[in-house]
Amino acid sequence: MLTLGIESTCDETASAVVRGGLEIISNVIASQIDVHKAYGGVVPELACRRHVDLIIPVIDQALREAQCTLDEIDLIAVARGPGLIGALLIGLNTAKAIALATNKPFIGVNHVEAHLYAALMSHGGNVPFPCIGCVVSGGHTALLLIHAIGSYTSISHTVDDAVGEAFDKVAKLLGLPYPGGPEIEALAKEGDEMRYPFRGGRVKDQPLHFSFSGLKTSVLYTLLGQSSASAPLPPISHQEKCDIAASFQRAACNDIVKKTYLAAGMHNAKAILFGGGVTNNRYLRARFEEENRDALPLLWPSLGLSLDNAAMIAGLGHFRYQAQGRGDALEIEPQTRIAF
Ligand code: KG4
Ligand code: ZN
Repeated sequence: MLTLGIESTCDETASAVVRGGLEIISNVIASQIDVHKAYGGVVPELACRRHVDLIIPVIDQALREAQCTLDEIDLIAVARGPGLIGALLIGLNTAKAIALATNKPFIGVNHVEAHLYAALMSHGGNVPFPCIGCVVSGGHTALLLIHAIGSYTSISHTVDDAVGEAFDKVAKLLGLPYPGGPEIEALAKEGDEMRYPFRGGRVKDQPLHFSFSGLKTSVLYTLLGQSSASAPLPPISHQEKCDIAASFQRAACNDIVKKTYLAAGMHNAKAILFGGGVTNNRYLRARFEEENRDALPLLWPSLGLSLDNAAMIAGLGHFRYQAQGRGDALEIEPQTRIAF
């Protein structure tokens, strides 16, 4: 069974062809970073316009690279949310139009759930349950107890910024381009991570919840030094930038490592499944390895599947289609927020 996947939740226009839910035949991603870079973050209106321009060429390319025609596709899967409303509408309506025109089943999936499915795909479907799902992306930071794919209990989430968002905002404060995560990671390699005593936020009576806005503010006040909050940021040396990047990265990553292992212990998890763009961070991966006292399998997405992509949408779409035995109604609406 071949599934065509479509992804347009934020600033990547992507399409993929996946066989049987696990085997990736093609995986095309058109990044819009060049469009948004100048603004230091994603501008929703510009993202929508770019999605409109790119969606059909990207789908065409995914089919071409898979050496198949639309006729040979059995299922159309699309990310129905969470994401930017205008961006979601473009992928969703394109998927509906293709399904309607070709009379093929159509299914809408949760983008965040698909990030976790990406790790499952990367490990050939071999995941022991129950396991902890650790989502660290630009829009979400959350821990879930995964009983099986499709069956989740929410454990905790961020009460303010997502961790990727914190990376992006701190990068902006340091004058680095968007997206900030890889920039911070690169600078941090040259920095002293103990120079500044930053730490992840604690949420009252919720030891597993996340909070990153205080950490971002600590970076801001470190940069401001003696200046007032309304003053332009004083210039700092390259070495200071590196030390701030390293200290921030240490604090943010250690907070995730500590809370994830705490959750794993509380729920007798047999593995940890990771999803989202921040899983690209080598420091985060290394810290998880170092603190893995119970030798739990750490199931990371392969690097090609960690950022937004449509292979994970097609894979999860296939799984859900098989599980529910039918597609979704064409009437389904986009969902900017989806609770687990
Ligand atoms: O999962 P994703 O592609 O999009 C969302 O669904 O949000 O994640 C994008 C986020 C951005 O915030 C980006 O800065 C972050 O992932 N990111 C990283 C790294 N690579 C991407 N954060 C830290 N270190 C990285 N190497
Ligand atoms: Zn994502």
